[in-house]
Amino acid sequence: MYQLSINGMTHQEFLTHYWQKKPLLIKGGFTDFEDPLTAEELAGLAMEEAIESRLVTNHEGNWQAHHGPFEDFSKLTDSHSTLLVQAVDHWHPIAAKLLEPFRFIPNWRIDDLMISFSTPHGGVGPHLDQYDVFIIQGQGKRRWRVGLPDPSLKQFAKDKALLQVEQFEAIIDHDLEPGDILYIPPGCPHEGYAVANALNYSVGFRAPDQKDLISSFADHIIDEEVGKQRYSDAGIDVRKSLGEITSEDKDRVRTLLNSLINDESLYSHWLGTFLSQPKHDMDLAPLEDALVADFLEDEIDEEDVIHRAGGIRAMYQLVDSEILLSINGETYHIPEKYLKQIQLLTDETFFSFNEVKPALTCLEFKQTLTTLINDGLYYIEAWS
Ligand code: SIN
Ligand code: CO
Repeated sequence: MYQLSINGMTHQEFLTHYWQKKPLLIKGGFTDFEDPLTAEELAGLAMEEAIESRLVTNHEGNWQAHHGPFEDFSKLTDSHSTLLVQAVDHWHPIAAKLLEPFRFIPNWRIDDLMISFSTPHGGVGPHLDQYDVFIIQGQGKRRWRVGLPDPSLKQFAKDKALLQVEQFEAIIDHDLEPGDILYIPPGCPHEGYAVANALNYSVGFRAPDQKDLISSFADHIIDEEVGKQRYSDAGIDVRKSLGEITSEDKDRVRTLLNSLINDESLYSHWLGTFLSQPKHDMDLAPLEDALVADFLEDEIDEEDVIHRAGGIRAMYQLVDSEILLSINGETYHIPEKYLKQIQLLTDETFFSFNEVKPALTCLEFKQTLTTLINDGLYYIEAWS
């Protein structure tokens, strides 16, 4: 297990002073850091169809980006190249453990673990990300520069798939060594070039924009066949100008729209479903012999450990004395009194079957857990 220490700060101090505010160099964030995988294993993942990967080269200032899956690594040259693999936590349970120390941040905000391997001078160039990121230095050494947000910085595409930003003034300029971590809030320009062959682990976060929220909410309204209330304007007066849409008309339309967002049940159901949707493919192993909810207690030993599979997004909300449990884009309704057991599913990445047993008297809980195990979102590790 990786133990994170943030320059002697508590989690709260970090959240108060740095989170979403300013970049931070965390020297020796992990002591005696051990890489969870090798560059060869990373390359193996980049050969898989279901895994998103890129290879970026910058020979003599000529930036090129190539998309995986890769059949060979001839472009991963001894210098000036980087291989980047997305969502490795979905595929590599040991690498997924690197997300654990960052779970002091609400889990629905965590996106994925991206891993890069760079040869000397390799990097993706100066750029901005829209999301917070912790970049952990694994083996090797990489020089990182990070600046503050500057709206005057121009962005340009070096290659169709490689958006960069012009040169910026750095407030952090440091050679990162194994176990060092950089925290970079959204919009801070940054660039990193390997000094010696380097593995870097990026813990990325999610922050949906209004456009994505509105379009997903609209889809939900259509799926649920709601939103059929029409505009109405009983009691209006005769007007001087009949071509005008008055401020009262506009307010009535705004109220009509807001009434959907303000419908607590509709809004919460959509939000949980939306936020729990994974962006990348999963590596799930559904059970060949499906369990039957009524026999769950006969099939699972109470000492058995139930694990949440890598990349599973699990979260809950309390709405009208009920728990809305949302896991990978599906939302389940569970009575509020089983909050402790629901929190095991959402707050922990593993727990013993014994701990959830008290909730098996609840039909909804028992059926939900059975479905999650049968579909491979949670899996049983037999106690031995
Ligand atoms: C990398 O590891 O090369 C990219 C990380 C980043 O800057 O977002
Ligand atoms: Co970046």
